[in-house]
Amino acid sequence: MAVPLFATSLAPYMERIAERVTSVAESGRYILGPEVQAFEREFADFCGARHCVGVGNGTDAITIALRAVGVEPGDEVVVPSFTFYASAEAIANMGAKPVFCDIDPHTFCVTRETVERAMTDATRAIVSVDLFGRLAPDLRELGVPVVEDSAQAHGARRDGRRAGTNGAAGTFSFFPSKNLGGLGDGGAIVTDDDEVAERARRLRFHGSTDKSTFTEVGYNSRLDALQAAVLRLLLSDLDGWNEARREVARAYARNGLGDVDGIELPEWEDEEHVFHLYVIRTERADELLSKLTDREVGARAYYRRPVHEQPAMDGFPPAVELPGTAEAARTHLALPMGPLLDERAIAEVIDACASG
Ligand SMILES: Cc1ncc(COP(=O)(O)O)c(C=O)c1O
Repeated sequence: MAVPLFATSLAPYMERIAERVTSVAESGRYILGPEVQAFEREFADFCGARHCVGVGNGTDAITIALRAVGVEPGDEVVVPSFTFYASAEAIANMGAKPVFCDIDPHTFCVTRETVERAMTDATRAIVSVDLFGRLAPDLRELGVPVVEDSAQAHGARRDGRRAGTNGAAGTFSFFPSKNLGGLGDGGAIVTDDDEVAERARRLRFHGSTDKSTFTEVGYNSRLDALQAAVLRLLLSDLDGWNEARREVARAYARNGLGDVDGIELPEWEDEEHVFHLYVIRTERADELLSKLTDREVGARAYYRRPVHEQPAMDGFPPAVELPGTAEAARTHLALPMGPLLDERAIAEVIDACASG
């Protein structure tokens, strides 16, 4: 039995999506306008933030958030190397310097200590990443603004605080495969800070608030009205879908995946994790990957080559050792996950991991 890596589907929404797309098309309001405003209000409320600013994608969200919290070209910004490349690219894109820090290979996230080790007198911000759906620790006491890259963690919650609200600003991607994904690219910045929100709004629109005076060089990066209309529909079910993902993680544990030789299950606390991906640790990751691929069970090692080893980052060699990053890069493997993964599919994945 084939099992896809992403067990999710928009099929139950298709009719309503078609209605909303038609309604936006008929309205003639395609850029910003009422759908985007409504989504921004609803997503801010969902996150428990005062403001949400819709932008073109999750990469621009980080770049714009960094500028909005005051980072300038030449400044150092600490960022984990074990993440999707865009977390660091967004820093370099605005002329700042990514300074790579290590992670805890058990959680795949930074720790306060790994961040502190990479900080210098020139550190002006931290990009923390809620990787694979798990919240990074609270770093607000470290004395510089934190931009929380929550592209993989929409809705994750700790002590009542949602992903995106554990810093000066939080950033999201609505890339189709995300826990809240649209029909194309999209992104957002959330913040409680009025000035950060106002500057982000200006930066996403060429550095202008009135379309005729351009006060700083910005970007053309706006969330589309069509995406906003679809995201509003999906947002209302997000907590339910996230809970279904956690239930899949519980089923993997209940049905014995952790008893398979050499497999370590993800560590997690309830609601801190929204399982964008279900990532195990194993020293035999490559062998397991080829075995699962042969059985048509979706599996993928996402970040075998961490960001600091990517050719484009040659100019930013890390100043600290990154042993946790190396370990995670070698041992991580994503297995099928999604709210629609049923017991049969879960049994098939576990059987495929245990066989041979
Ligand atoms: C952790 C992380 N940061 C940033 C991004 C960038 O988002 P986007 O593809 O919308 O630019 C992604 C997703 O692709 C991501 O997973």
